[in-house]
Order: sequence, then structure tokens, then C-alpha cells
Amino acid sequence: MKNCDLPAIITALGGRRALQDLLGVGPSAISNYLARGTLPQWVHAPVCEALRARGYQIDPGSLALVEPDNGTGRTNGSSTGAPNGGSVLLIVGGGIAAYKALEVARRLQDHDVAVTGVMTRGAQEFITPLSLSALTAQKTFTDLFSLTDEAEMGHIRLAREADLVLVAPATANLMARAANGLADDLATTILLATDAPVLMAPAMNPAMWSNPATQDNLARLRSRGVNFVGPAAGDMACGEEGTGRLSEPEVIVSAARDLLDPAPKGPLAGRHAIVTSGPTIEPIDSVRFIANRSSGKQGHAIAAALADRGARVTLVSGPVAIPAPRHVDVVPVETARDMLAACEDALPADLAVCAAAVADWHVTGTRNGKMKKTGDGPAPTLSLAENPDILRHLSTHISRPRLVVGFAAEAEELHANAIAKLARKGCDWIVANDVGPKTGTFGGDNNTVHLITEAENESWQPMQKTAVASKLAARIAAHFGDNND
Ligand code: CTP
Repeated sequence: MKNCDLPAIITALGGRRALQDLLGVGPSAISNYLARGTLPQWVHAPVCEALRARGYQIDPGSLALVEPDNGTGRTNGSSTGAPNGGSVLLIVGGGIAAYKALEVARRLQDHDVAVTGVMTRGAQEFITPLSLSALTAQKTFTDLFSLTDEAEMGHIRLAREADLVLVAPATANLMARAANGLADDLATTILLATDAPVLMAPAMNPAMWSNPATQDNLARLRSRGVNFVGPAAGDMACGEEGTGRLSEPEVIVSAARDLLDPAPKGPLAGRHAIVTSGPTIEPIDSVRFIANRSSGKQGHAIAAALADRGARVTLVSGPVAIPAPRHVDVVPVETARDMLAACEDALPADLAVCAAAVADWHVTGTRNGKMKKTGDGPAPTLSLAENPDILRHLSTHISRPRLVVGFAAEAEELHANAIAKLARKGCDWIVANDVGPKTGTFGGDNNTVHLITEAENESWQPMQKTAVASKLAARIAAHFGDNND
């Protein structure tokens, strides 16, 4: 296949991680696709489907993106292919832990964060700029007075373009120079010139760390708003034991991501929500399954809206072609029985919203391998058994969430059926939606719902699924606000 604008496609899909999740591949596969500039044929269909779900038009042959409704027919040239997890200027100090900075750079990119490297002279004694450049696919900067660098990107611009300056490892010397406002190399000049948040991950001998000089520098840097992660305690490369080890790369990356995109705070802070979303699929044999038309849009939007209001959200989702919302822990499942187990594992929770279109039955006696036709013999008969009812299970659980919300997908007699369902399931609220053949609810972006509680029966105007999610999350937040304990 000829080259496509893969960075633009990745951006349109919501980043590298979203593409990974969509295709069920690891970060290295995405790096390979990027290096080749093409996507393998087998991923075209899911990629096209996911892009269309996000409102893009795409030419399936060339995979050229067209922005929706822009009226110009212009391809999505606005996308620079820049990862959308933010950008980090990674300053590597000269310590034995410098090699771990490579791992930090790699993991940041796994989270869709663009990384540009800067290395002190000391760092170059431990790792080469080439290794960092190879990992970041960017030039690594080392020299304050390099004319080329100054022409291409002045050090001030370098300092200002990043969303975060991360120093890992931050040596005692680098901390001391930064604390004293020195600007005697590229690293310290950037630290003095930047207006981005700064995160330092110190690493040094325990005696150097506990020395009052270092502790003074630490206090001074902290008082100026510099953030710190670590150092950790443990065995040191120098053979001593104590506090001074560079924090593990995943800890540094998590601290960096918190600064790049802090989890929202809101009225549901401290509450844990379980949300089920998407369809479940029930295997017939190794290649065939029973599925339904649920896109997961409504459930995912609810998970996002709850997270936006500060809740910790576990999103238990059947297979969908839409990206995972930010700040949500996704547990991917396939069958209803897997979904139930994942919800059980996620308990305890303050609230649960069951928006998944759970298959009512699964096939019994499924076989490994593919069922074969028997020529002119009779067609096989499928034997079905009822699936567990997850909503009812959570509503009657010994660790029942305080608020359990179910959906009622009804094609006829919507109100009567939804009220009956509220009682049958034992949940607190039902969001009843009309999924009759002409409504376009399944797979569409809009929904017309009625919120049914024991006391109320409220009809909402037709609105986008994201608006339904937002309104429901606001009602949930108000409920917890009114019933605080
Ligand atoms: N639900 C569930 N587990 C099931 C079936 C449904 O958790 N095995 C949940 C859905 O997520 C939804 C609610 O129950 O919140 C109602 O789903 P719906 O499909 O409308 O109803 P059913 O229980 O399947 O009943 P029926 O198909 O008879 O209307």
C-alpha cells in the first residue's frame, strides 16, 4: 500500500494509545507502522470505521482524511501528527541512572507524549545523544552555543515550547546549579528560561541527598514551584543503601502525566463509579459469535462525564471501535460472564451505571475451532442459555453501590416496560431509551431518554449522547451532594 498520512490518522483517532487499543497491538507495532509510513491491510476496516465514528470522512483506498463538514474538501492537513498527550523536554543529568532516562522517554511516548531530549555533558559520559535521538525520533540538544541549534531553535524557544520540563536524573550538582539560578550550560539555561512546569527526579548517593546543602537546594526549588518525584530508597549502584535512587520510570512517567494533564477535580471526587458499556459478544465457535449493534457511545460518554466530575471510573467495556475516554480505567471484556466478573472485581463502588447492551443468552457447548458445514446434512442448531443479569446482580449485591442506574432499551411501550424493569432489576434509576427501528439510537450520536426513579418520571429532550451523559452525571453528582455521608 502506498504511504498514508499515518500521524494525522493517529491524531484523529486520539493518539497512539487509542490506535493500540483499537487494534489490540503493542506500542512497538505502532512504531513499526510509523517507520514504514503505512498501515497493514488488515487494519484498514477497523481504522476507517473508528475514524467515521469520530466524524471523519476517509477514503478507504488511500486512507486520506477529510475533515467533516469543512466545506472545502481539504484533507486534514491541519494535523501535524503531533502526539496529543503533550510535550516534554527531557533533561538528562550526568549520573549512573542516566540510562533509565531512555526508558522514561520510551514510556512517555507510549502515552502519546512527544519527547525532546537535552543532555548535560556529564550525561554523555553514560549514554549517547544518538540513543536518545533514536528513541525520541527528535534531535537531542547538548550544546548551548551550537550555532545550528541556535538557528533552528533558540534555547529560549526550546525552553518555552514544552508543556513540561522533566529532569531525570536530577543530580546534586544540577539541583544546586538550578537552585542558584546558574545558566552555564544548555540544561540550566533552559531551567532558568522556561515558563513550563518543571519536574525533577533526583538521583544521587544517599549521603549527598541528605546533605543539608542538597536539602536546602531542594527546599529552595520547591518554594519556587519545582515539582519532585522521588528519590526512592533502596540499594544504590555505588553499593550503599538509603534514599537516593532514581524513581522507577513508570513512577516518573505517571508524575509527568499528572502534571501534563491533571485528573479533573469535581463534586464526585473520592467516589468510585463502575460503568458498563458496549455490546457483549458470545462465541458460537472460535471464529463466529453472536453480537448486537451497540456502539458503546452512550456508556463511554457517561464514563467520561463522571470522570470529568472527579469520579474514579472503572469502565467495563465490550468490544467497541471508539477510543477510551481520558482518566478512566478501562477493563476490556467480551462475554456477559466476563463483564460480570470484571464488575465483581471492581467492587466496592459508590455507584454503577449499566449502559452495556448485554447479550441475553450465550451459546452452550461451544467448541474450539471452526464448525464445518456437513454438505447436504441439516444446519446446526444452537442451544442457548441465559446470561447473568449484571444490573440485577449489582443491585442485589452484598456490597451494593449506593446508587445503581440501569438502562432500558425498549422498542415498544417504553414507559410501562421501563417502570417494570426498575422493579425487576432492583436498581434506583432507569434511563429508558427508545431503540425502535426508526430511532437510529443504536450506533447513532443522539438519544431520546426518560429518567425514571421511584419518585419521578422525567422526559428529556432529544439530545446528543454526550449531552445525555453530562446531564446524567450532573444528576448523579447532585444526588451524592444531597445525600452526603
Ligand atoms: N443488563 C445487564 N445484564 C444483562 C442484561 C441487561 O446488566 N444480562 C442491563 C443493561 O445494561 C441495562 C438493563 O439491564 O442497564 C436493561 O437492559 P435491556 O436490554 O433493556 O433489558 P433486559 O434485561 O435484557 O430485558 P428485555 O430484553 O427483556 O427487555
